[in-house]
Amino acid sequence: MIRFDNVTATYKKNIGIFNISFEVNPGELVFIMGPTGAGKSTILKTIYKDIHIDSGKIFLNNKEISNSSSNLSISNTRNQIGMIFQDFKLLNNRSVYDNVALPLRILGVSNKNIKHMVRESLNKVNMSNYELSYPLELSGGEQQRIAIARALVNNPKIILADEPTGNLDPNISDEILDLLEVFTDNGSAVLMSTHNFPLIKPRNKKFIELSKGRMV
Ligand SMILES: Nc1ncnc2c1ncn2[C@@H]1O[C@H](COP(=O)(O)OP(=O)(O)O)[C@@H](O)[C@H]1O
Ligand SMILES: [Mg+2]
Repeated sequence: MIRFDNVTATYKKNIGIFNISFEVNPGELVFIMGPTGAGKSTILKTIYKDIHIDSGKIFLNNKEISNSSSNLSISNTRNQIGMIFQDFKLLNNRSVYDNVALPLRILGVSNKNIKHMVRESLNKVNMSNYELSYPLELSGGEQQRIAIARALVNNPKIILADEPTGNLDPNISDEILDLLEVFTDNGSAVLMSTHNFPLIKPRNKKFIELSKGRMV
């Protein structure tokens, strides 16, 4: 589902990620572990096509996205991916409903289908009663649930979470991890970065350990 084949992406000499190879299969949750500056976000950004790679290959659903002659455009690639961030990136002047509906509006989905899909997504993260709330009325954990509902609303097969628990208390972080694990049940591949090894250790999942842009 996600496959890196010897990927190198640099910002400048010796800064970036180097010779990264791994795969995330359908239904699998894999962690990228490492301290600040290790290259975790850089790996996720290459998948999201935020930055170019220097060499190697990246495959999503067996299609190479890193090839410049690939017919997968940036928006095609992004439409297959749900992104979740440490700082939630919600629009604070829009209701919960409108935040979750946003990706569907961009895709031109009908209002009737939007209503159905937003309700289903909010239901999955146990936030059904908050449609009319605004993000700043919610706790950090609740805001992250809304951000997860938004990332999942068009049923992406690939979910990238960049330190999604970075701003949350340990028990809330665990709940967010539980949610991400549930989403692998329908065959989605989830790749999550974190610097918090004690959080992920009890889960016994595959993890990629990074140090200074290299796998260790
Ligand atoms: N836009 C950028 N320009 C130059 N250097 C960058 C840029 N973004 C990140 N870096 C550097 O690349 C390295 C990896 O960063 P990053 O992937 O953000 O690490 P992490 O997410 O693990 O904290 C760091 O040394 C960081 O300073
Ligand atoms: Mg980062």
